[in-house]
Amino acid sequence: MNDVIDFINMNRDRFVDELKEYLAIPSISALPAHVEDVRRCAEWTADEMRRIGVPEVELIETPGHPIVYGQWLGAEGAPTVLFYGHYDVQPVDPLDLWESPPFEATIRNGEIYARGAADDKGQVFMHLKAMEACLSRGERLPVNIKVVLEGEEEIGSVHLDSFIREQKERLAADVLVISDSPMFDRGVPSICYALRGLTYYQIDLRGTTQDLHSGSFGGAVANPAFVLAQVLSQMKDRSGRIKVPGFYDDVRVLSDDERVEFEKLPFNEKHYRQEIGAPRLFGEKGYSTLERVSARPTFEVNGLSSGFIGEGAKTVIPALAMAKVSMRLVPDQRPDKITKLFEDYLKKVTPKTVALKITRMSGGLPWITEFSHPFVQATARAIERGFGRRPIFTREGGSIPVVSTFQEVLGLPAVLFGVGLPDENAHAPNERLDLGNFHNGVISAACLYDEISRVGRLR
Ligand code: BES
Ligand code: MN
Ligand code: MN
Repeated sequence: MNDVIDFINMNRDRFVDELKEYLAIPSISALPAHVEDVRRCAEWTADEMRRIGVPEVELIETPGHPIVYGQWLGAEGAPTVLFYGHYDVQPVDPLDLWESPPFEATIRNGEIYARGAADDKGQVFMHLKAMEACLSRGERLPVNIKVVLEGEEEIGSVHLDSFIREQKERLAADVLVISDSPMFDRGVPSICYALRGLTYYQIDLRGTTQDLHSGSFGGAVANPAFVLAQVLSQMKDRSGRIKVPGFYDDVRVLSDDERVEFEKLPFNEKHYRQEIGAPRLFGEKGYSTLERVSARPTFEVNGLSSGFIGEGAKTVIPALAMAKVSMRLVPDQRPDKITKLFEDYLKKVTPKTVALKITRMSGGLPWITEFSHPFVQATARAIERGFGRRPIFTREGGSIPVVSTFQEVLGLPAVLFGVGLPDENAHAPNERLDLGNFHNGVISAACLYDEISRVGRLR
């Protein structure tokens, strides 16, 4: 391993130069104007994999963006790692809030700024460089590796589930490795042992066929903007509890032990509040902030629109009101069941004065694992080798829906070792990745393959 680590240290700057190239490709999966860029990014990724010595690389077409697949299966008898990540990124708006252009990676204070730096191209690249280091020093990896990089994660992994189900045999492995999450804090390397699930909807309320003069018609009809506000206000009570009947039925209760562990985490609530600029924090009564953002479900309004929002005043009754809402789910809630409960309740609380349309959008299951699993412990040792510090175990509030698909279809245990930081602005302007964490992450990733091979095949 020492020569592999030497290689990583010696090539530190080159890795960053190459990462800049990767980050320059605007692979925004959500925007049709960028389809060709997404494809170009897939091709760049595939070429890079070939260059570092992964022999069997291909672009797998889907009805949407392509999947990049590659494998190196030269470690007979050793475990097979399935590495999953995504090369697509979120849109960049509002563009004027970026301090440097989102697709011209810029280094300031040891951090590389660009869309995708942390989520997830930087972390994917960290593994590619770890693979390169192993392959160029000894021409082999300590484990077999199958790489699945998708271009649709940020739009809900539209075509990945069917790919996994169809290619079950080809994807067979011993452990799933993902680096697509933040560490708990700067200097606090972490292993994520739980993710929340998600279920997302658009609600459209129509009052009339077209906008109306509010003087002539005001008083005769319900205003859909107002009705929408009333409907949304029915979703939570004042203590932050979600009012959809049955919503909490399957929520796994936090054990006393886990709550004690939460208490021990180095978390400064005042600092957290100031960082995000909130006058006060608010959340479900009876739980700490850390519990609320990771181990408890939520209901959020993600967007709202209706009526006249231009400058000045316009006396109008809008014909339409629209909201995008989503719920983060925790074990053992299921999006299909929650959808039924939510839709029934929404229909019940929406008055007959408006026409209601519900559109289901992305969704996915929550995920949780035991951290006593040998591969999870192997990950802890690898991180300690890369960061010089033993990682802590955290639950994350975000969602990676395919983790549970991989688990269900391929029966894979998963290890989530992320090197982003909570304040690195994933999905927001000025996204960045700390280059020290990136470098230690490359070393940790190489050590992870080594540690996994030492654990061996468990079945
Ligand atoms: N990398 C994130 C998931 C994540 C965020 C994990 C924070 C841990 C902590 C991923 O790219 C993402 O943004 N996922 C979406 C999923 C959705 C589009 C189905 C999310 O969580 O909103
Ligand atoms: Mn991600
Ligand atoms: Mn994301």
